[in-house]
Order: sequence, then C-alpha cells, then structure tokens
Amino acid sequence: MITSAVPPVVPAGRMAAMDQPVLPLDCGLELRPWRADDADALVTAGQDPAVRRWNRLIVPSPAEARTRIERMHERWRNEQAAIWAIAPRDDGRAVGLIGWGDIDLADGSAEIVYWILPAGRGRGVAVEATMRLSQWALDELGLHRLRLCHSVANPASCRVAAKAGFSVEGTMRSALLHEDGWHDQHLHAMIKGDIRR
Ligand SMILES: CC(C)(COP(=O)(O)OP(=O)(O)OC[C@H]1O[C@@H](n2cnc3c(N)ncnc32)[C@H](O)[C@@H]1OP(=O)(O)O)[C@@H](O)C(=O)NCCC(=O)NCCS
Repeated sequence: MITSAVPPVVPAGRMAAMDQPVLPLDCGLELRPWRADDADALVTAGQDPAVRRWNRLIVPSPAEARTRIERMHERWRNEQAAIWAIAPRDDGRAVGLIGWGDIDLADGSAEIVYWILPAGRGRGVAVEATMRLSQWALDELGLHRLRLCHSVANPASCRVAAKAGFSVEGTMRSALLHEDGWHDQHLHAMIKGDIRR
C-alpha cells in the first residue's frame, strides 16, 4: 500500500458515498445528473461547431451518447469526475453540460468542463452554473483548488472564468491539441477562500 506523509485533502470514498445532488440555479434551470433520455442533446452538442471545436466532442449516435452517459455515472462512483446536465427545472431536456473532470481527492483538485447549446448562450447560464458548482466542490465535496483552462482563442470561455471568479494564473504553451493544431491555454484557478457568496 502507498502511504503519504500528508493526509488526503478529501478522504477516498467520500464522493462515492454521496448521491449526485440536484442544484437549482436562479435562471430557472437546474444542474442534475444526466439521464439516458438526454442522449439526443449530447449528439446535438457534438454537431455544434463551437462545442466540437472547444470541447473536442463528437458523439456519432444516440447509442454512443447513452454509453457516455453511463460512463459519467461510473466515473462519479469511481471518484474521477462529476458531470451534470444543465436543464429546465420542469423535467426538461438537457441544454448544456458542466462538471468536474480530473478529480484528485487526495490532492484536493479538479478541472471544470462546460458547454451550452447555442440557443441557451449569452444569458449568463455558464457563469451561474460555474459559480454554483465551484461552491459545491469547495464547500460540499471539500476540494481545495479548482482549475478552469481554455484556449487563448476562446474569449467567451475567458469571460466566463473571469465573471465566475477564477483568477488568471498564466498561459500554458501548446497545452491542448485541437483539430487545427496546438493551442496555448489560459490557466485560471479558484482556491478555497476565493469564492464569492
Ligand atoms: C463558453 C460558453 C460555455 C459560454 O456560455 P454562456 O452561457 O453563453 O456564457 P455566459 O452567458 O454565462 O457568459 C458569456 C460571456 O462571454 C461573453 N462572450 C461571448 N462570446 C464572446 C466573444 N466571442 N468574445 C468575448 N466575449 C464573449 C458574453 O458577452 C458574456 O459576457 P458578458 O456577460 O460580460 O456580456 C458557450 O459559449 C459555449 O458553450 N461555447 C462553446 C463551447 C465552449 O467554448 N466550451 C468551453 C471550452 S473551455
């Protein structure tokens, strides 16, 4: 067994023991677990040029989408990722995705991912959802440091980061390979204590 001189920031098993919560947003939407009947939204997202470009997402079929949705739940149980659908509160279909990938409970860190389908953009949804999930990750799950990374050629994502309270820490050179080649990325972060109430 590997031991560390430093205790884990979040003990292993805490996340797996939680049910993924439903988190209401002020804009009439909520963050809730993905469901099999959201498969079409995932396929549609993969066909949107901006989501395809910036999230590198392609979902060829509803069957593949359902597999991905099952994998999201598996990754929650394995404490690797925590991914929510952004959806109307009246049981409507998903209009976006947001969540934490690269979760490291021992080190207390994770990186956010998000996209909104075109019809829902420009209404502050990504900013509100990012703030809500940051609060959940720091206060409820107990992480210490949250990252938000985006290509320097994606100013909308940079604006979301700034408005949600993520400070810019620098530029990571050639950090992510996109369809058109390597992109430099801004590294933004929020640490416990930064959060705006
Ligand atoms: C980035 C994205 C999630 C933002 O979602 P959203 O709900 O529209 O975001 P919000 O409405 O909360 O805020 C967007 C902010 O970016 C600004 N913005 C949008 N496009 C912009 C652009 N091309 N240049 C500069 N700012 C831009 C908006 O004006 C707004 O700022 P404001 O409120 O000060 O006016 C959405 O555009 C999207 O899904 N894009 C494609 C996928 C993507 O980029 N994912 C992120 C990968 S890191």
